[in-house]
Parts: sequence; structure tokens; C-alpha cells
Amino acid sequence: MSQFSIERAEKYILENISKVNQIYKPELHFSAQTGWINDPNGCVFFRGEYHLFYQFNPYDSVWGPMHWGHAKSKDLLHWEHLPVALVPDQDYDKDGCFSGSAIVKDDILWLMYTGHIVDEDGSVRQIQNMAYSEDGISFHKIKENPVATGEVLPEEIVKSDFRDPKLFEKDERYYSVVAAKHQDGVGCIILLGSDDLVSWQFESIFLKGESHQGFMWECPDYFEMDGKSYLMMSPMRYQRVGNDFVNLNSSVLVSGFVDWDKKQFYQETVKEIDHGHNYYAPQSFEDNKGNRIVIAWMQNWGRTAVTHNLQHGWAGAMTTPRILKYKGEKILQTLPDGILEQLPILFMSENSQVGYLQSDWTDGKVYRLGTSEDYLEFGYDAVAKEVYVDRSHLKIQIKGEEEWPINRRAVSVEAHEVLFILDKSLLEIFINNGEESLSSSYYLTDGGILQELTN
Ligand code: FRU
Repeated sequence: MSQFSIERAEKYILENISKVNQIYKPELHFSAQTGWINDPNGCVFFRGEYHLFYQFNPYDSVWGPMHWGHAKSKDLLHWEHLPVALVPDQDYDKDGCFSGSAIVKDDILWLMYTGHIVDEDGSVRQIQNMAYSEDGISFHKIKENPVATGEVLPEEIVKSDFRDPKLFEKDERYYSVVAAKHQDGVGCIILLGSDDLVSWQFESIFLKGESHQGFMWECPDYFEMDGKSYLMMSPMRYQRVGNDFVNLNSSVLVSGFVDWDKKQFYQETVKEIDHGHNYYAPQSFEDNKGNRIVIAWMQNWGRTAVTHNLQHGWAGAMTTPRILKYKGEKILQTLPDGILEQLPILFMSENSQVGYLQSDWTDGKVYRLGTSEDYLEFGYDAVAKEVYVDRSHLKIQIKGEEEWPINRRAVSVEAHEVLFILDKSLLEIFINNGEESLSSSYYLTDGGILQELTN
């Protein structure tokens, strides 16, 4: 019998919610009731509501035995917590229900996820599993699990890193893009195919990375928009160039095209999706209006775990959901309709913790949030043409595994209209209607007076 169950998780959450310290806990961004979260999983529009699942350790504010937490929303702003959806209680997922995705087939909600298994000799296996739900709340793992193991992979693929399946449907067949490591030391994406979501076949190595593109591409995602094909993934150690890929682990949007006879993706352009300190493992999905929505984990691996170190009982949040829009060769990340109207407006020189501000930054801007001894700075250098977030003046310093300075992150862009959102410990900046974005966390020790140093 496994030590983990939904009942145990729910009981723990109920007993510990009141102990969670709310000081830094966001109000406009999704975070869990207790414990640690990372990647968004299984984002899906099901029976008129948005569902979000996520990598979840309810029992501690650090990564641990991965469960799938679950919440739903009608407007992508207010989330209702639902019972934990998956717990690592089977031989084929005993050391974690790792990331995956969802799809709706015949009004049934299906999940595909990675079972993480550490064998007695310490060796790791990652295998793909399916679960389904008829009511969108309780999930049944199917008896055919696992549906794809390392055995299906060609020799050139490293079998121990095979995870994060993302489902999609194309020409009446189901597919899943799955992350894998190539023996040449580069990331690659495996394509699996199925007619019924139960029996899965290896289709192809959909895309093999180049040597500067990192050694593993976590959480791949495939979608089509305005006649173009896209891959979105989170490469580990994508090579730094200027202001791009400065976090050890980045998230990229690759545009290209697919030869569906060969089942090969060809890269055309690559772009770092967000230039802040904290943006990882984005996942996309489509709603009933045809919106392509993206939600990402607003954290990064290897960084100082501030709320954990302070024993606040929680860690990790999601970005504001963003809708991708294709406009004049650019992909914009825009807020869903109706969200901004519901947010408070921030005022200068007030204890501004939660809200948004929108203004023209064309001639340059400097904002400081905090006190003279402890502040976050962000703004626009109109000469260098860079929008930046600088964490170097914060008392609580956030370190990473990067071998280079990462206190300041920036994006090269000619900024005009800029919108930013503050949410207690989270900052999101959207430039020129979402042409570029920066998402970063910060932890002020003595409140947040917002000051504008330029006019
Ligand atoms: C990405 C990731 C995934 C994995 C999950 C484990 O952040 O490392 O590759 O499935 O987190 O929690």
C-alpha cells in the first residue's frame, strides 16, 4: 500500500491552511493552499470552465513526491481549489506523478502524465501513463498503464529522461510530444501517436536540438496558430546571447513547419518567451473561443527558496494566463478579456502591493518599490532601449545556480505602452501590448512604497 492517497493529502491541506503565512502570497496569481508547486499541467477547457492542474507537494514548501493539484476557473482570474487529482500510489508512478497534459475526448477528460520511478539501485525510469475522469474531479488511472516506456525509443535516445507528454489532436489522430535527451548531449522531442488514447506508438524524433540549444528540453508543447506550427519548451542551459537565455533554464517559442509524412518539425525562429527572472515550463491550451492561452510557473529551478527558508508553508505561483496573438510577424502575449478591469489600479507613494499600472514609457522610466534600504527597481532605459528588472537592492537576495550575475534581467525592445502588475511578491511587465514580457519575484522586508523617479 502506498503511503500517499488523496484523502491523506486533503486532510493535510485542511489542517495546515491556517498555518500558511500570507505576507508574500499572491492574490491575483494562482498559488496552492499549502506546500510547493511547479509546472502547470493538464491545462484544459472542459464543460465551460478552465481547469488547471499542477506539480504539487502538499506536504512541504520544497519539491518532493509529486502529486497533481487541481483547480478550476470561469474567468482565468478567480480559481476554485479542487481535490488533488493524482497521487503517486502505483508501481508505475511511485516516485512522482510528473508533468503532463489533458485532452477532452467524447466529453471525457483525459490526462497523460509521466510516472517517475527510482529503482533500488538508484537508476531512474520515466514512463507515460493515462488517467481519465467523467466528472472532471475524480480521476481513474487506466489498467493498461504504462502506455509508453523507454522500450519504444530508438537506441540514440537516453531512456532515463523521457517525460512531460503534451497531448494534441491532428487529422483524427491523437499525438503527444514528449521530452527526451539525445545521446549526443542535446535536447529532443519524441512524437507518440494513438487512435484511442490507450494504445500508443512511437512515431518519430519530432525535433532534435542543436548543440547551443541546451541538453534537455523539458515540458514540450506543440500547437498551430494562424497556419503556422509552434513548439514551446523549456531547455536546460540554452546558450546565453546578450539579454537572452540568461536564466540557466529558459523557455522558448519556436516557430516552424512540420512535414507530416516524415513527422518532422523544422525550426525557423526561436524566441525566449519571457525575459524576467522567473518564468518556466509554460503550457498552452485552447478555449471555446479559439484563444491559445499560456500559463507558466513563475519560478525557476535552483534559486533561493525564500518562502521555504522563512517557513511560510508555501512556495511557487503561476503567471497570469496570457493569450497568444499573432500580429505582423510578432506573437503578442495579451491578458484575457475582462481581467484588467477587475484589478485595482496602483497609486504612487502608497503602500502598493497589489494592482496594475499602464502608461507610456517611450521617454524612459524608473520605478522603485520598497524602502531606501530595500527596494526592487524596474524601468526602461530609452538610450540602451532596454526594459529591465533589477533585484540587486533587495535585502533578501535571491541567488541562482548561474555562474554569471543574474540580479538584473532585461529585454532589448523599443518600449512605448507598458503595463505592469504587482502582486505582493510578483511583478509582471508587458511591453507594447505583450510584444515582450518580464516576470520576476521579489520579497520586500518592510512593505512596498511605489515611487516613480522619472516623469
Ligand atoms: C520541469 C520538470 C519536469 C518534470 C517536473 C517534475 O520543471 O522538471 O520536467 O516533469 O518538473 O516536478
